[in-house]
Amino acid sequence: MSKTIRKAVLPVAGLGTRVLPGAKTVAKELLNVVDRPIISYAVAEARAAGIEHFVFVTGRGKQALEDYFDHHVEMEAQLKAKGKTELLEELLGELPRPGEMSFIRQMQPLGLGHAVWCARDVIGDEPFAVILPDMVMDASVPALAQAVEAYDQVGGNVIVVEPVPESETHKYGIVALGGESGRLRPMTGMVEKPAKGTAPSNLIVSGRYILQPEIFDLLASQETGAGGEIQLTDSMVKLMARQDFHALEYEGTTYDCGDKIGLLRANVALALKRPDLGAAAREAILALL
Ligand code: G1P
Repeated sequence: MSKTIRKAVLPVAGLGTRVLPGAKTVAKELLNVVDRPIISYAVAEARAAGIEHFVFVTGRGKQALEDYFDHHVEMEAQLKAKGKTELLEELLGELPRPGEMSFIRQMQPLGLGHAVWCARDVIGDEPFAVILPDMVMDASVPALAQAVEAYDQVGGNVIVVEPVPESETHKYGIVALGGESGRLRPMTGMVEKPAKGTAPSNLIVSGRYILQPEIFDLLASQETGAGGEIQLTDSMVKLMARQDFHALEYEGTTYDCGDKIGLLRANVALALKRPDLGAAAREAILALL
C-alpha cells in the first residue's frame, strides 16, 4: 500500500512580477480572489485532500503571509464587541491548528526546485504534495484530492496536468506520455519551458504534484536549467529513470492568479459561482459590456 500523503510544500517566495505594482508590498499570494486571498484557496484544497502539515517556503517581504495564519487580536476583539459573529467565525475558520504550519525562508530566489529542496528537513522521508498556490483550481473534487486518489491507485509520483493551446506551451513544464489513453497515464518525459514548436505534448504541469522523498537528493545537486534557475522539472526527469511517474489530467478549471488576466478571470468566475454574490456579480459584469 502507498504511504499516506500528510504534508504539502507551498512555495510562496516568488516576487509576483506579473502582478506588480500591486504585489510590491502585499505578497501576491495575499491578493484577493473575491473575498479570500489566493493562499486561502490553496490551503482549503490541501485540507480537503487530507493534508495535515503545511510547509510554506517564503522569502523576504512575505511576513504578512505568516500573519494571515495567526490571530489578529485587535480585529477579533472589535468584531466580537460589534456582534459581527459570522465574520469573526469566518476569520477564525482560516486559522491552522497549533503546530500545523511551518515557515521556511528561501534566502535566494534560485528557482522552484531550490524552494522545494528548502523544505526537505520538515518533510523527511515520506511522500509529499507540492501546491503552487498561484494556480487556483476550481473543481468539484478538489484537484489535490484527485491527485491523491490517483496516487492511491498507482503509487510513485503523480503530476497533475491539463491541456493548453500549442502557442502557450513554452511558458510551462510540459509532459511526454506513453501511448495509452485515459486521464491517468504513465509519463515518459518532461521538459521545462520548451522552445516554441518543440513541446512533446500540449499538457502542462499544472501546479499540483505528489512526489517521493528521493527527489530531495536529486535537487541537492541539480544544476540550473531554464531561466538560469534550479528547476523541479529537471530533477523529476532524473527521478523518472528510477521511479514511476503518472500524469493525471484533472477535472476542473485552472486560473493562473500570478497573471493579471488570470486573476481577473478567477475573480469573475468565482464571484459568479457564489450563492451569496452570483446574481449581483452577474448584473455588475453585464452592465460593463
Ligand atoms: C512552474 C513550473 C512549471 C509549471 C508552472 C505552472 O513554472 O516550473 O513546470 O508548469 O509552474 O504554473 P513558473 O510558473 O514558476 O515559471
